[in-house]
Amino acid sequence: MKKKITIIGAGNVGATAAHWALVRKLGNVVLLDVMEGIPQGKALDLWQSGPLDSFPGTITGSNDYADSAGSDVVIISAGLARKPGMSRDDLLAKNVAIVKSCAEQAVKHSPDCFMIVVTNPIDAMVHTAFKATGLDKSRIIGMAGVLDSARYRTFIADAVGVAPSDVNALVMGIHGDLMLPLVRLANVGGVPIADLLSEERIAEIVHRTQTGGIEIVNHLKTGSAFYTPGLAAVEMAEAVLTDSKRVMPCATYLEGEFGISGYFLGVPIVLGENGVERILEFELTEEEKTALAGSVKAVSKQMEATGM
Ligand code: LAC
Repeated sequence: MKKKITIIGAGNVGATAAHWALVRKLGNVVLLDVMEGIPQGKALDLWQSGPLDSFPGTITGSNDYADSAGSDVVIISAGLARKPGMSRDDLLAKNVAIVKSCAEQAVKHSPDCFMIVVTNPIDAMVHTAFKATGLDKSRIIGMAGVLDSARYRTFIADAVGVAPSDVNALVMGIHGDLMLPLVRLANVGGVPIADLLSEERIAEIVHRTQTGGIEIVNHLKTGSAFYTPGLAAVEMAEAVLTDSKRVMPCATYLEGEFGISGYFLGVPIVLGENGVERILEFELTEEEKTALAGSVKAVSKQMEATGM
């Protein structure tokens, strides 16, 4: 039987994720939104691309959570996106109510789903959905490390002049300016980047990664990135649906790992049919611990602001 993926929020991120979910042949997709007509129209358009790309899944647009019943994966991308001059935290007050309501309704119809939260500020929004639904911590994660690491890998690949797929690099912590692109572990086909790039060039790449979201917002002016965020969410869903055991940095509920308890933050995890199957904990340097402590402080402030 085909898997069922519900994507809540038919904006740019949601529609792009729906497109990737079909093209990657993950199963049947439901695109859900409160706006009447938008999910229906986008779903019809995507459905009609089937003959040209020969994907097997169908897609339905809906305003009714009943249509999402029995979903294997639910991706939440509903909420406001940033405009120039806004931080991700500026979205918090509006998006907390939206994410809470979407998560509650989704789980009512799909109690066994695996949930991926994409709405910003991601680390606090996934925690909000976790509290609102009571899902087990292995069944809910936030997207951002996959996006931030993709940006980091792209910039490294460009600087070294190699294929992006040959760059291995990890971004941990919050999805915000205090995220931690790990330099020590970043490598190109196993060769450390410190042996291939100058310290100054690496510092530029780290900074560009940390501000990768706002760089795009400043170009677009009307919203934020969606191609890579949409694909990142689908990449995570695919790992769960295909039981691939892929290792990805995702916002995960921590209970002592990396010395952090009671918050969702980006750490490397193994994703498979049981959801978050393992957190890959490793020893951090003092400098990295200090950087990660900055993420904890920032996310704890966000959580206070949610009132959850
Ligand atoms: C970004 C938004 C999605 O980083 O937070 O592009």
